[in-house]
Amino acid sequence: MKHIISKKSFRLAGIAKVPGDKSISHRALILSSMCIGRSKIKGLLESEDVFATMNALKTLGVKIEKLNGYWFVNGVGIFGFKEPTEYLDLGNSGTGARLMLGAIMGSSILANLKGDKSLSKRPMGRILTPLKMMGAKIISSNNEKLPITIKAPKEVFPINYSSKISSAQIKSSILLSGLAASGRTIFKEPNESRNHTEKMLSSLGANIQSKTLEDGSYKVELDGNPVLRSSNINVPCDPSSAAFLVVAAVICPESKIELKNIMINKGRNGLFETLKEMGAKINIFNKKNNGGEETASIIAEYSQLKGIAVPSKRVPSMIDEYPILSIAASCAEGKTVMDGISELRVKESDRIKIVSNGLIKAGVKTIEKAESLTIYGSKVVGGCSIDSELDHRIAMSFLILGLISKEPIKVLRPSTIETSFPNFYKIMIELGANFTKA
Ligand code: S3P
Repeated sequence: MKHIISKKSFRLAGIAKVPGDKSISHRALILSSMCIGRSKIKGLLESEDVFATMNALKTLGVKIEKLNGYWFVNGVGIFGFKEPTEYLDLGNSGTGARLMLGAIMGSSILANLKGDKSLSKRPMGRILTPLKMMGAKIISSNNEKLPITIKAPKEVFPINYSSKISSAQIKSSILLSGLAASGRTIFKEPNESRNHTEKMLSSLGANIQSKTLEDGSYKVELDGNPVLRSSNINVPCDPSSAAFLVVAAVICPESKIELKNIMINKGRNGLFETLKEMGAKINIFNKKNNGGEETASIIAEYSQLKGIAVPSKRVPSMIDEYPILSIAASCAEGKTVMDGISELRVKESDRIKIVSNGLIKAGVKTIEKAESLTIYGSKVVGGCSIDSELDHRIAMSFLILGLISKEPIKVLRPSTIETSFPNFYKIMIELGANFTKA
C-alpha cells in the first residue's frame, strides 16, 4: 500500500473496539519475562512495535507463545536473559529500545540493539547516562543513538537520579535496571509521567513507593532484587489509539460513536480533558477497575470547538496526543496554543515541524516555535499529500483531517500505522470514513 486518500465524511457512527494499550503491552511482555513462572496476557496489542519487543525477548531466550487467544510468557527472572547471537531489532519503537536496555542490565550480557531510520535518529543519551552510572558499558558510534552495543555489568549499582525531562521511558528503563541493583533505586522527574511500570511492578510483588513532592515533582523508590511472581495480566484498550476515533467523531458533522474498555489512567487522559475544555461532547462513563487499571466507556459526538491555551502541566498526560489535538484545533473557532512541547521534536518524527508544515499545506495557519505550536482554526482546504515520515500518529492525524477538508488529503507511507493500530483503516471504514487505499 503506497498511500491512503481521505475524503469528506459525515455521520461517523457505531461502536468500535480499540486494540490493547501499547505502553502496557510492552511492559506486560518485558516484566513477565523477568518474573519466575509462566504469565498469561489477555488483550495484548498485536502490532509491529509490540512484536519488535517480543522478538527481542525471544532472542534473549524467553519462550513466548500464543494459545487460544492468550499470550503466555515463561519468565527467566531478573538475571536470566541469555546473551543474544543476533541484533535486537526494535524497529520503530522508542519504548521497546529504552525499556529493553534497562531490562537486560541484570543479566551481565553483551547485546547489540538497532532500529529503523526513525528510531536511529532518536536520543538515547537520556537513558545511557543513568545506565552507565548503574554500571553499563556502552559503545555507540552514532552520537548516543542506535545502533548501540551494551555490556551489562556484573553488579548493578542503585542510583538516586533526577531527570530534567518527565519521561516514562527514562523512568522505566532505570526502574527495570534497578530491579537488579543491590539496594534502593530512586528516580525523580519534574511532573509525573505515566505510571504503568510502577503499578505493574507493585502488582508483581516488588517493593516500590511513589509520591508527588511539595514542589509538584514526582519521586519513586524501588528496592532491588525482589522476587517477581508470574501472574495474569489484562491489557486495557489504548486511549492514545482511541484519541483518533474520538477526534474524528467530534469534528465530523452528525457523528456519534462509542468506545468500550478504554483505559482512563490519569497519566493518559489529558487529551479528553482538553477536548472537553474546547467544548467537545465527550461522555466518559461506566468506570471500572480492570486488573489494576481504570477503564471506561466513551461516547463522543460532533461538537462546535473553540480554541484554548493548553496548560503545559498537562503535557505528560497527553504527550502522544498533540498531533491529533492539532487536527481538532484546526477545526476550532479561534486559536489553540500548545506550549512546553519541545519533547515532541524527538518522537517518531519532529512532530511540531511535521504537523505545522502539514497543516500549512492544508490551508491552516500555524506559528511554530522551538517549544510551542499555535494553530488558528479555519476552514480546512486540504488538497495535498502528507508523508508519514515513518510516524504512525502523523499518518493517522492527517487521515482524520481529510475527513473534514474541502479537498481530499493523501497520506504517503501509511503502513507505519501498523506499529500501533493495525486495524485503524478497517475500524474507520466501518464507522463510515471515506478512505481509499492505493
Ligand atoms: C511511553 C512514554 C512516552 C510516550 C511513548 C510511550 C511509554 O514517552 O511518548 O509513546 O510507554 O513509556 P516519554 O515517556 O519518553 O515521553
